[in-house]
Amino acid sequence: MKVLIVGSGGREHAIAMSVKKSPRVDKIYCAPGNAGIGQIAECVPIKAMEFDKLVAFAKEKEIDLTIVGMDDPLVGGIIDEFEAAGLRAFGPRKNAAILEGSKAFSKDLMKKYGIPTAAYENFDDPKEALAYLETAHFPIVLKADGLALGKGVLICNDKAEAIEGVRSIMQDKKFGSAGNRMVIEEFMTGREVSVLSFVDGDTIRIMSSAQDHKRAGDGDTGLNTGGMGTFSPSPFYTPEVDAYCREHIFQKTVDAMKAEGREFKGVIFFGLMLTQDGPKVLEYNARFGDPEAQVVLPRLKNDLIDVVEACIDGTLKDIRVEFEDNAAVCVVLASDGYPVSYEKGFEIKGLENFEGKDDYFCFHAGSALKDGKPVTNGGRVLGITATGEDLKKAREKAYAATEWVSFENKYMRHDIGKAIDEA
Ligand code: AMP
Ligand code: GLY
Repeated sequence: MKVLIVGSGGREHAIAMSVKKSPRVDKIYCAPGNAGIGQIAECVPIKAMEFDKLVAFAKEKEIDLTIVGMDDPLVGGIIDEFEAAGLRAFGPRKNAAILEGSKAFSKDLMKKYGIPTAAYENFDDPKEALAYLETAHFPIVLKADGLALGKGVLICNDKAEAIEGVRSIMQDKKFGSAGNRMVIEEFMTGREVSVLSFVDGDTIRIMSSAQDHKRAGDGDTGLNTGGMGTFSPSPFYTPEVDAYCREHIFQKTVDAMKAEGREFKGVIFFGLMLTQDGPKVLEYNARFGDPEAQVVLPRLKNDLIDVVEACIDGTLKDIRVEFEDNAAVCVVLASDGYPVSYEKGFEIKGLENFEGKDDYFCFHAGSALKDGKPVTNGGRVLGITATGEDLKKAREKAYAATEWVSFENKYMRHDIGKAIDEA
């Protein structure tokens, strides 16, 4: 079969690698892809938001299955466009992708169906939001309602910061129309865990847990980024936590979406915080995480195509989703200056060191070909991943492999997986 993957980051490279392992697949295309994905798929220069061109391409090439990795096209309704053209595509329809696309929607859903999350209020009017702050407790969390490249969350330590935050989101529109509405919520403390799942509308199958490192600098300092590294599984996601989440969060979310007439098929990513009062939902995403996919997918035992098709066809209950009894660590190599400003176009050397090794992966996030040579083309450049018998071994291997590649301005965190030592 022929598969099209939509996106261009490390997550899409990890998806492509999983798809490539399937004996059922003859040909992979990726739109737009990157230099690394180009080694296992044919990259086509169509952007993820160019739905008409993507549909036309899929028809012309008789694509059997399209997998969408990114949030923007899903929230924008790409699945509906493919289905309307009679094409098979994996991901939630627009009316279900709102689970990620609107934080106000997701908070109201959790409240209505009794799914544990931080206490909150939604606001359409900045005056009301400002008035609310008069009696609020601090720190407090402000969230732009819509998609904001993972940057639309502000943690404010006092009233002055929060007033400034409301103004920047709702009045100055720092995150554009994503800030037409906002959520103000209780600040929670605890460890964060990412749990990804496959969903077919009714049945949910949980993937192995992971932990991201969102801040740019060592010791969780500096600005928030798309993610500087991950490990899987999380030792803090214990069987007790898992049992609680299965009872109070996972299936309830799937059932709530169905009850609302928004049947969800695709990947639900549960961003959880393990608080003293039990696990609570920080956020939902309607797709694989990036860089969570880079540590979860290499550990998946199933043929990804079988699972994806079962989600589309509503037959997930017939499938056991299984993971290797090992661990994986991903260290992101970024361009120095990310996430603010950085230079691009530097040659990436040493990629051949990863060839022929099945426990090391070099996932490309921001790379391109220039005169036939791979060059840096983004803030996050590569996701160096290794699997090992346990987390410590995987971490040691991943950090060793970060030395195999070089490019000017190479930057990474040195403490990815430090939490493992506290487990
Ligand atoms: P989100 O995009 O909603 O996951 O938020 C991004 C990050 O902000 C999360 O990974 C948390 O580190 C932090 N965060 C979000 N909501 C809260 C909250 N209610 N309390 C504490 N931290 C939060
Ligand atoms: N790594 C967090 C995300 O994909 O949203």
